[in-house]
Amino acid sequence: MNSFESLIAGLIADKAPITIEDARQLLVVPQDSSHGNFSFPCFSLAKLLKKNPKLIAEELADQIILPVGLAKVEALNGYLNFYMDRAFLASKVLLEIEEKKLNYGHAPQNNKSVVIDFSSPNMGKELAFHHLRSTMIGNSLSKIYEANGYKVERVNHLGDWGTAFGKLIVMYLKENLPLEDQELEKLSVKELNLLYASFANEAKSNPEIEEEARKAFTRLEQGDALYRKLWAAFKEATLKELRRLYQILGVSFDHYVGESFFEDKIPAVIENLQQKKLLIKSQDLDVVMLEDKKLPPCLIRKSDGSTLYATRDLAAAIYRKETFDFEKCLYVVDLGQSLHFKQVFEVLKQMDYAWSQDLLHIPFGLILQQNEEGKWEKGKTRTGTASLLRDVIEAATQKILDFIEEKNPNLADKKTVATQIGVSALVFNDLKNKRLMDVKFDWDAALSFEGATGPYVQNALVRLYSIMRKAAYTVDKNDVQWDQIIDDTAYELIKTLGRKEENIRKACEANEPSILAQYALDIAEAAHRFIHHNRVLGSTEEQSRLFLVQQAQTVLENTIELLGLYPIQQM
Ligand code: ARG
Repeated sequence: MNSFESLIAGLIADKAPITIEDARQLLVVPQDSSHGNFSFPCFSLAKLLKKNPKLIAEELADQIILPVGLAKVEALNGYLNFYMDRAFLASKVLLEIEEKKLNYGHAPQNNKSVVIDFSSPNMGKELAFHHLRSTMIGNSLSKIYEANGYKVERVNHLGDWGTAFGKLIVMYLKENLPLEDQELEKLSVKELNLLYASFANEAKSNPEIEEEARKAFTRLEQGDALYRKLWAAFKEATLKELRRLYQILGVSFDHYVGESFFEDKIPAVIENLQQKKLLIKSQDLDVVMLEDKKLPPCLIRKSDGSTLYATRDLAAAIYRKETFDFEKCLYVVDLGQSLHFKQVFEVLKQMDYAWSQDLLHIPFGLILQQNEEGKWEKGKTRTGTASLLRDVIEAATQKILDFIEEKNPNLADKKTVATQIGVSALVFNDLKNKRLMDVKFDWDAALSFEGATGPYVQNALVRLYSIMRKAAYTVDKNDVQWDQIIDDTAYELIKTLGRKEENIRKACEANEPSILAQYALDIAEAAHRFIHHNRVLGSTEEQSRLFLVQQAQTVLENTIELLGLYPIQQM
């Protein structure tokens, strides 16, 4: 629809002392659609011409000759209101969707690459409910960037290095668990969780065990064969469960590159820091001072030589730049890590990496759940109040399954459909608000088929699919009569479909999937309303209306996919 704005700006520039660009800048979309599709305020012209804006608007309305596509121009209180020709708009938007199909509204390839670091959980632990946020915001952003023409590298920066592994190793050996390969292969992440719990328990009466864990990690870093073998088994056990969950969520990665991968790349980073005289000894630690940026020192190395989270992020950023030559590198990580990323980005800047300005932390808020007293609070893994992601997915699936059993017991493949609706409901609940807002998780609200929910959006798609299925044919564009789809509900739906490009672009610029989630709601609402007001099958306008249904289905389906929801066809 951008071309409409240029067209109108051109008409104005033709008759008034203003450039097309300036006229375009001034054009607005009126809140009240009875004031037209685009409105041009004449107040800046009035200043320039020292003339009453009302008069200017009236004169321009008289002078402008409307081209094809515009139905009317009207002066109102100093504004010039333009009305589009509904039939023309219908043909323009729907034919373009028909041609571009699911890619309608996408930008052409731009040969630039974007790295998106998301999910990136710590190994040895089960995914908690809150891990859904990074995973699904990152997943949707990956799709949104692709739709904007970028080559996306999806990176899972696994937390597979650090003292936590020392704890697991110490506890595993203490409990005399089996060391044979076949036995290690059978290990599950649930057992690892139990090991953590026993470690925490043991540490209460025997605090020295913490020191043992640190030593065990150092021994792991130094390459001890048994320790490495255990570490690899712990990691594999976690990955097994992780892959299963990603499969259910419909998420995939191009690279699983854990923190351990950077161990041998760190000496070069440290040398570089030393050469640039950035590394300072502070107590037992090597740090980079950032006080002129009002940040605490960035910790690089401990006295025993072991490295830290930030050190590995420095190495990872340099590696990513060398490997992918990214235009931007996004870190989809909770708001709590803001300071960490500020420090890492600043150190890279002081190392003279100009590209450090292309590193972006994409923070998000918490998932809050209601406790017994009805207060909203954050779940904590350590106190055991956090729900495990697998349990939440299972419960959501079960609730939807119960609903299907009641409403549509003959539905094919019930369990799969229930999982896809349940997962999408959880995901939509996460994406629908601006990412920095905390998400209040309420079962009934999230799983409802009414309101701003995943099931509501999916249901709109199901209804469109169901009409197409019953029709059992697709309409040829030459059989459409555009003036048969110009009633208010058709017009609203078509205008909404026409805003896909703008919404994908804005979601990308703001790194904000919520923009697309709101757009999905707009389409769903306009589609529900159109179907409610217009009989499609068996009407005189059947072919024209069915063509609109067909194109609405395409746009909604792709919007749903870009959000990472399942575009189901039946429920
Ligand atoms: N593993 C970290 C955590 O669970 C998140 C890692 C995010 N990515 C990064 N490059 N630091 O807190």
